[in-house]
Amino acid sequence: MQYKRILLKLSGEALMGDRQYGIDPKRLAEYAKEIKQVVEKGIEVAIVIGGGNIFRGVAGAANGMDRVQGDHMGMLATCINGLALQSALEDQGVYTRLQTALEIKEVAEPYIKRKAIRHLEKGRVVIFGAGTGNPYFTTDTAAVLRAIEVDADAILKGTRVNGIYNTDPEKDKDAVKFETITFKEVIEKGLKVMDMTAFTLSEENKLPIIVFDMNTNGNLLKLVSGEKIGTVVDN
Ligand code: GTP
Repeated sequence: MQYKRILLKLSGEALMGDRQYGIDPKRLAEYAKEIKQVVEKGIEVAIVIGGGNIFRGVAGAANGMDRVQGDHMGMLATCINGLALQSALEDQGVYTRLQTALEIKEVAEPYIKRKAIRHLEKGRVVIFGAGTGNPYFTTDTAAVLRAIEVDADAILKGTRVNGIYNTDPEKDKDAVKFETITFKEVIEKGLKVMDMTAFTLSEENKLPIIVFDMNTNGNLLKLVSGEKIGTVVDN
């Protein structure tokens, strides 16, 4: 196996499947199956999930809402997704723990780094909810932060596209995919992988980012097994 401990970043929007809003149970179950496959191989899996399928703080602010209120709503949305994913994983017989950056003790454990690592060592999937617990930070930043804290080997960013391209592959059919790219090149070329806060945090802490297509069955397992899936961003 290429990786021993991974931080999987999933977008909230991905949970919508073909819907316009909310959670598609079919998509959720598919993701749970993909995750189960890697857990069964002995890979330690931590997950950060976004909340954009329910609420985005930035979008709220664009409509005149206070940004901090909006971001708090977004953080709660990630907890809803975390609970949904936890339930879907448990349906597949995968042991999980949900830890949240904002305390909602009746619902989930509070985030405690050492406890999170212990859960991972015991083979439990740890889902981190509520982002970093602070407004103005994205769930990508939360994903990088948690990956560094729990000493993950890499952050695997599951998306709709199968890697990083020189132009938007959904708009340009001549777009060329990178197999590997350095952090520096991503910045020089003005490519969008993550927001800059997340990206530079990853670079400074030498945490590789792999962007891959999470919607193709078996991709996650292939990736952790060492197959060249997606694009690797590294120093
Ligand atoms: P180990 O004892 O280290 O194996 O971990 P554990 O998670 O099994 O033990 P613990 O006794 O901490 O937790 C037992 C159950 O309670 C697990 O399902 C936890 O997710 C849950 N749990 C622990 N702390 C909290 C909390 O603060 N809030 C909520 N809602 N659940 C919690």
